[in-house]
Amino acid sequence: MSFRTIEWRDDTVIMIDQTRLPGEEVYNTYSDFKSVADAIRGMIIRGAPAIGVAAAMGVALGAREIIADTHESFFRQLENVCDVLARTRPTAVNLFWGIERMKRVAEQNRDKNLDKIREILKKEAIRIEQEDLTICRNIGKWGATLIPEGATVLTHCNAGGLATAGYGTALGVIRAAHEAGKKIQVFADETRPWLQGARLTAWELLKDGIPTTLISDNMAGFFMSKGEITCCVVGADRIAANGDTANKIGTYSVAVLAKENNIPFYVAAPVSTLDLTLADGSKIPIEERPGIEVTHIKGIAIAPEGVNVRNPAFDVTPARFITAIITENGIVKDDYRAGLRKVAGK
Ligand code: MRU
Repeated sequence: MSFRTIEWRDDTVIMIDQTRLPGEEVYNTYSDFKSVADAIRGMIIRGAPAIGVAAAMGVALGAREIIADTHESFFRQLENVCDVLARTRPTAVNLFWGIERMKRVAEQNRDKNLDKIREILKKEAIRIEQEDLTICRNIGKWGATLIPEGATVLTHCNAGGLATAGYGTALGVIRAAHEAGKKIQVFADETRPWLQGARLTAWELLKDGIPTTLISDNMAGFFMSKGEITCCVVGADRIAANGDTANKIGTYSVAVLAKENNIPFYVAAPVSTLDLTLADGSKIPIEERPGIEVTHIKGIAIAPEGVNVRNPAFDVTPARFITAIITENGIVKDDYRAGLRKVAGK
C-alpha cells in the first residue's frame, strides 16, 4: 500500500488526514495526547482498529507529557490521559481495548522507573500497530476462501487500510482475493453522511488497481435484485457475544437486503472488536453525531435551516442476517456464542 494510516515517528504520531481525502493526501503530526483525542473525535483518523492504535499511541504520548515525582502521581495522571482518550467515541470497542492494554502494561511494570515505563508504553503502542497489520493479513487469508472467482463484492463504509494499521479487514478480504489472482470487482456504497465509501474506499481500492464501482447507498437493493452482487463484506465496530454486530449506519439495511436476495453477508473483524461482555447487540452504545453532518456537504447546506435532524453513526445488524464472521483466528458461523469464544481463546 502506498500510504501509512498512522505511525510513531521521532516521538510524535503521524496520521493521514482522512477528512481531506481523496482531494489531498496530507499527513498531520501530533505531539500531545489531547490533540490525538481531538483527531479521533474529529474523524482525522477513524475505523475501529485504527482508533484503537491511535488511542494506544495517545496513551504513550500522554505518558511522556506527565511531570511527576512519584509513581502515585504518574499513575493518577495516566488515568486522566486514558479517560480523555476514552471519551472520544463510544461505539468501537477497539478504542477501549487499546487503552486497557496500555494500562495493563503500565501496571505490570509499576516496579520500574518512570522513564522506563514511558519507554515500555511507547514500544507497546508500536507493537499494537504492527500486530494489527499481521491480523488484517490473516483476516484476509481466511476471508479470501469465501470469495468466488469472478465475484462482485459489495462493501459499506471503509473497512480498509485507512481504518486499520494497513491492509484492512473487509478490504483485507478483498485485497487477499485479488492478490490470489481472482478476478473480482467491488461495489462500494458511498456511505452517507460521511461518505467513507466514496471518499476513502474508492480511493484506496483504485490505488491498488482493484476494479471498483461507486454506488449511492439506496442503489444496493437494485443491484442485488438484478443478480449483480455475489456477496457482501463489511467491517465491524463492536460484536456482541451472540454475533450481533455494530457497524457504520446503513449496514443493517444492506444485511436485510442481502438476506432477501439470498446473498451471503460477511463481517470481517479482528478479535479485538469482540465484546463478549455484552450478551447481545442491544447494549452497544451508539454514537450520535452533529446534525450538520447530515444537513451540509463540505460546508454547503443541502437542507433547509432549522429542520430536525438525527445522525446515529452506527447501527446493529442482528446475527441472524450474518452468514459468517471472519477473524484472524478463523471463520465463525452458525453457533456464534461458542464460535466467538473459541476464536477469542476464551
Ligand atoms: O465512523 P467511522 O468511519 O469510524 O466508522 C467506521 C466503520 O463503521 C467501519 O466499518 C468499522 O470501524 C470497521 S473498520 C475496519
